[in-house]
Amino acid sequence: MIVGAGPAGLLLSQLLHLQGIESVVLERCDRAYVEARVRAGVLEHGTAETLREAGISTRMDAEGMPHDGTELRFARARHRIDFATLTGRHIVVYGQQEIVKDLIAARFHAGADVRFEVDDVALHDLDSDRPRVTAGGESIEADFVIGADGFHGISRDHLADPSVYERTYPFAWLGILAEAPPSSRELIYCRHENGFALHSMRSPSITRMYLQVPATEDIGDWSDDRIWSELTTRLATDDGFELTEGPLLDKSITPMRSFVATPMQQGRLLIAGDAAHIVPPTGAKGMNLAIADVRLLSRALGGYYQDGRDDLVAAYTETALRRVWRATHFSWWMTTMLHTDPDGDAFSEQLANAQLDYVTASTAMATSLAENYTGLPYEQGWSYR
Ligand code: FAD
Ligand code: DHB
Repeated sequence: MIVGAGPAGLLLSQLLHLQGIESVVLERCDRAYVEARVRAGVLEHGTAETLREAGISTRMDAEGMPHDGTELRFARARHRIDFATLTGRHIVVYGQQEIVKDLIAARFHAGADVRFEVDDVALHDLDSDRPRVTAGGESIEADFVIGADGFHGISRDHLADPSVYERTYPFAWLGILAEAPPSSRELIYCRHENGFALHSMRSPSITRMYLQVPATEDIGDWSDDRIWSELTTRLATDDGFELTEGPLLDKSITPMRSFVATPMQQGRLLIAGDAAHIVPPTGAKGMNLAIADVRLLSRALGGYYQDGRDDLVAAYTETALRRVWRATHFSWWMTTMLHTDPDGDAFSEQLANAQLDYVTASTAMATSLAENYTGLPYEQGWSYR
């Protein structure tokens, strides 16, 4: 039984199916809403491989945009981090909502039981061998319940005695999707005295961009003209960077938070993705971590059903957390380096500038950024040795 049809829940259902293990997916929202929700866009090297392994990569391979590097921009100058040279790996730019569409199509094609608009899911008997989920007046027994219901889901509340680690940031991201060709071939992460700006994309004709705004900001205060003007100011370079504008297709504000709840399991309940942990989006890790969790879970459950092994399920939290904490640190580091802190002082500003100077001047430091950004290997949570 899987609660939540985000990338984590749907991909787990698909990966289990490929091993002959069937699941039911229960989702609170309707299908159109889930498929239209604009969120992440950067896939780690290994995430793209995992989607290929799951057999849902046809459109990603045709329409996704592989990038061999990214730009860090500060003090009106451009600095490229070359992932391919530094790590031999790349990223793929392909929208989360496209992955969700591809997964839903694949699951229905295989005749899967995926139910939308189920808004009264409740979990029972999680410490027994036959946990139960009730929803829509029905009671369904299962071997395991997977909580893939995101940060605002119900599954995390069933952890008996969780440890919670949390940090909130005094800023948020205002994200836009614009009908305009990207102004740069690669992503641009930009630090500016007015705040962070990010240039990304979804296709050769659609640009995705973000602006750091105060945590309490009201989207109503941001007219389209004000957004373009602020993006132009922050992204300006001494060599004449030009931003291509176009009509806005989507506009929203996302708060920033680091959050880890552990253990990621309670009896026969295993939680994955945003249900267990949240990172600020600066390192583009949120969806990639969700996918790493369920890749691990699919192998643990495969071991349970195919070889009668309990140890992989028992080790799920410990194995997953190593990667989660690495990504939590990386996301915090990218965030503090690239944002202006409204509560910070001149000292913290100089430290961020010194860090940017170092990361763009030192091959060792640039390699560290590149290996985290393109994604660490999966073994033992992650390991290069
Ligand atoms: P979700 O995608 O949240 O999926 C959980 C699903 O469970 C949802 O469909 C929800 O409706 C459903 N659900 C919740 N409660 C219940 C219930 N009680 N019963 C049944 N179903 C339930 N990451 C980045 O890397 N870059 C970004 O730019 C970025 N932007 C983001 C913008 C927003 C507004 C948000 C919220 C997140 C963003 N993220 C971003 C993070 C990234 O999108 C998430 O890490 C990713 O969606 C996690 O996938 P998931 O499947 O764990 O959770
Ligand atoms: C996108 C989102 C991110 O959080 C990020 O770090 C890079 C790109 C995007 O939506 O394209």
